[in-house]
Amino acid sequence: MRLPALIAIAALAGTLVAAPAAAATSLAQLATAKGVDIGVALDPNRLGEAAYKTIADTEFNLVVPENAMKWDATEPTQGQFTFTAGDTVAAYAAQTGKELYGHTLVWHSQLPNWVSGLDATALRTAMLNHVTTVATHFKGKVGSWDVVNEAFSDNGDGSRRSSVFQTKLGDGYIADAFRAARAADPGAKLCINDYSIENIGAKSTAIYNLVRDFKAQGVPIDCVGFQAHLILGQVPGDMRANLQRFADLGVDVRVTELDIRMATPPDATKLAQQASDYRAVVTNCLAVTRCQGVTVWGVTDKYSWIPGVFPGQGAALLWDDNYAAKPAYQAVAEALGGTTTPPAPAGCEVTYSVASQWNNGFTAAITITNTGSTAWSGWTLGFAFAAGQTVGQAWNATSTQSGSAVTLRNASYNATVAPGGAVSLGFNGTHTGSNPAPAAFTANGTACA
Ligand code: XIL
Repeated sequence: MRLPALIAIAALAGTLVAAPAAAATSLAQLATAKGVDIGVALDPNRLGEAAYKTIADTEFNLVVPENAMKWDATEPTQGQFTFTAGDTVAAYAAQTGKELYGHTLVWHSQLPNWVSGLDATALRTAMLNHVTTVATHFKGKVGSWDVVNEAFSDNGDGSRRSSVFQTKLGDGYIADAFRAARAADPGAKLCINDYSIENIGAKSTAIYNLVRDFKAQGVPIDCVGFQAHLILGQVPGDMRANLQRFADLGVDVRVTELDIRMATPPDATKLAQQASDYRAVVTNCLAVTRCQGVTVWGVTDKYSWIPGVFPGQGAALLWDDNYAAKPAYQAVAEALGGTTTPPAPAGCEVTYSVASQWNNGFTAAITITNTGSTAWSGWTLGFAFAAGQTVGQAWNATSTQSGSAVTLRNASYNATVAPGGAVSLGFNGTHTGSNPAPAAFTANGTACA
């Protein structure tokens, strides 16, 4: 999307009417007003978590499945397609009025083993069948597809990655995949997507040349995705110029997988640098007319792929482990032309203390505060005991325990908690020597501060 709503209406009406500046309350509202996408990589399995769902619902106007449309998810066995997870994301996009971005049809990673075992002829047939079947299934729902992902080498010299597709099918496989995708879904925009191409360099120039050649040869291609898995403090100074040179070839560009990682743990200085980096990326995109928008690779640091792949690194997204909006969130909002009120971090705050302890017993005191904006008419506090403790008699609450998972529910007389209100409760428990406080709490299924 790149057409500000106001201009679209004004163009239809033939006059420009100044709209009163309404206070935007989300990144999605700000982005939509600017005619750009603010997207998020979605894991449909996390939508059961209230804080995750609320942020996904309200803050983004585009979703891309983080994993659900990849080859291993859609065709784990040759010829047997499973679209359940991808359909969930597509249905979510439709229900919430968001654009759906498809990721990804041909990629060397998350590729089932059977693909690598095929000879060249069978591989070519399988690749074309995969592209055709998946793109046909989501036809009319997906706005753009990452048709081919990460086709260029990690060494950054602009050579092709020696994937099974490259090795067995040769250079032509990319054009073949794009042609098959166009035939299957003529309405979807077709993108090539890669990382470490945000700057002007050998790798981005190789993709630039490919796009230029495709355009000259009539191979269908509409867009280039710049993943932008960036390192703190390293937004390339020539990123805007790089996006612009691609746009000048006659394709759309977009930032597709933005995260900005740092050595963990984060601190105020790093978070401020990260905010300035996020601001720079969004500003670079907005400065290029053909830049369609920016997608962040996940809702919360809690579930980001970064710590698993880059040990010691993390904190790369806009919301932290407890769903508190980070400085980068405000920076993105400002880059999109507004200031927004960051969503209440968690809606709840919990203090937990051991009031007294003896032999193998203890008494715990807890306060839960409703930091959200709506009243609770009943509450459930959840936490885990990591050291084998058990919960016994509780007051101002009823307690249950299953394994390490403890649940405390309101009593009849303290079910209602107004915004800003708090309840105090406590319980007697047992321990076996060590008695650490629970590491995290949820209230009504939402993580608490
Ligand atoms: C990552 C997902 O975030 C992880 O959950 C998964 O385990 C591995 O893939 N480039 C891409 C994305 O194009 O598909 C990758 O996503 C991150 C790097």
